[in-house]
Amino acid sequence: MSDRWTPDSWRRKPARQMPAYPTPEALAAVEHRLAAFPPLVFAGEARRLKEALARVANGEAFLLQGGDCAESFAEFHPDNIRDTFRVLLQMAVVLTFGGATPVVKMGRMAGQFAKPRSADTETIGEVTLPSYRGDIINGFEFGATARVPDPERMLHAYNQAAATLNLLRAFAQGGYADLHKVHQWTLGFVGSSQQGERYREIADRLDEALAFMAACGITAETTTQIRETDFFTAHEALLLPYEQALTRIDSTTGEYYDVSAHFLWVGDRTRQLDGAHIEFLRGIRNPIGMKCGPGLAVDDLLRLIDALNPHNEAGRLTLILRMGAEKAEHHMPALIRAVKEEGRPVVWVSDPMHGNTIKSTNGYKTRPFARILSEVQTFFEVCTTEGVHPGGVHFEMTGRDVTECTGGAQEITDHALSQRYHTACDPRLNASQSLELAFLIAEELKRRRAGRDAERRAAALAA
Ligand code: PEP
Ligand code: CO
Repeated sequence: MSDRWTPDSWRRKPARQMPAYPTPEALAAVEHRLAAFPPLVFAGEARRLKEALARVANGEAFLLQGGDCAESFAEFHPDNIRDTFRVLLQMAVVLTFGGATPVVKMGRMAGQFAKPRSADTETIGEVTLPSYRGDIINGFEFGATARVPDPERMLHAYNQAAATLNLLRAFAQGGYADLHKVHQWTLGFVGSSQQGERYREIADRLDEALAFMAACGITAETTTQIRETDFFTAHEALLLPYEQALTRIDSTTGEYYDVSAHFLWVGDRTRQLDGAHIEFLRGIRNPIGMKCGPGLAVDDLLRLIDALNPHNEAGRLTLILRMGAEKAEHHMPALIRAVKEEGRPVVWVSDPMHGNTIKSTNGYKTRPFARILSEVQTFFEVCTTEGVHPGGVHFEMTGRDVTECTGGAQEITDHALSQRYHTACDPRLNASQSLELAFLIAEELKRRRAGRDAERRAAALAA
């Protein structure tokens, strides 16, 4: 790792999960064009996010990171972007208000296109074709032409990411995210549910608080935090030719930033210490994340932290645990303990989705909501026992009323999965399940706060 880093130094390392483009010249031509496109985000924004994540690492805030498993060209629609955004806003309100914690909001949006796959090929009947790797690489349709990796898709993905980000910025800063709109964020189908009812209670209390503040002279006009919110974008830095083309020197610091998103993470399948993805991520100055699955050994984790965050910068590195509900209790403590003992400042996050994927009785790839909740609960318990801050959650969701994960208050059964199963990749929480998750997390945050307050009172009495 002592070799000099350049935006293309990853090319000298073994790269897993990379598509086999049929014509290198066509790929090079697209990379060349992309390299001249405007940045999607600014380095200053990535630095602001890093500062916010440093507050999370210090236990002063909570990270909410959610969105599609894979964005798709076909589902590109303003309503989908709005619905996902507003459910994230609702979840943030539940956490901020219920848990009395500042929330850093980040979408798996505006660039989450490339997917790692467990098999290179897919066979249906007699036909074997390359696996679908996300719309930025090839087509979902099971056909010989669709499945050929096409570099031109990167241009399409870039444009879709730009348009998505434009709308997200308008929503976040143009009045839609104004706290006075909390009631209006409720989606029709959630409004009538138990989660909708609980949300309305919080929204009513928030209205009261806002009215009180207005009476004191604090209004949307005087205070931008009431009127606007910060919303950041994130995706897996999997397709390295695309990421490299969008890596630029920031003129104010002279450092490299990947301007395709504020935050980039490396997946559980591509985090080899000597591999191309770690090589790429170690050199960009954005805040970054790493998925940690049950196969990650303590020693390897420490070496990866050395490579990714050699200067121990708080906010630079987020570790996203995705163990599976059954394995969580066994695998989480050793990793957390070792990192704590080594004094490495990281943000600990739970991804309760990727270790809990199963096949339903009728053949759907699904995730039981109970297992998702169970993994989050274990995460909170382990963090409390090990004395670290449970910094956030990372999950796959949509604002639409899909039936992809079983269970939850709607009690979605295996049988019901076929009704609205729309995902291009992994099963997502729907709006109601997402809110349910937020309420559970708010309870956990509240409990921790109560515990800390009690400790503080006891210490004050003893003094
Ligand atoms: C994902 O986040 O969509 C993903 C593939 O995760 P992981 O790398 O944890 O399997
Ligand atoms: Co996924």
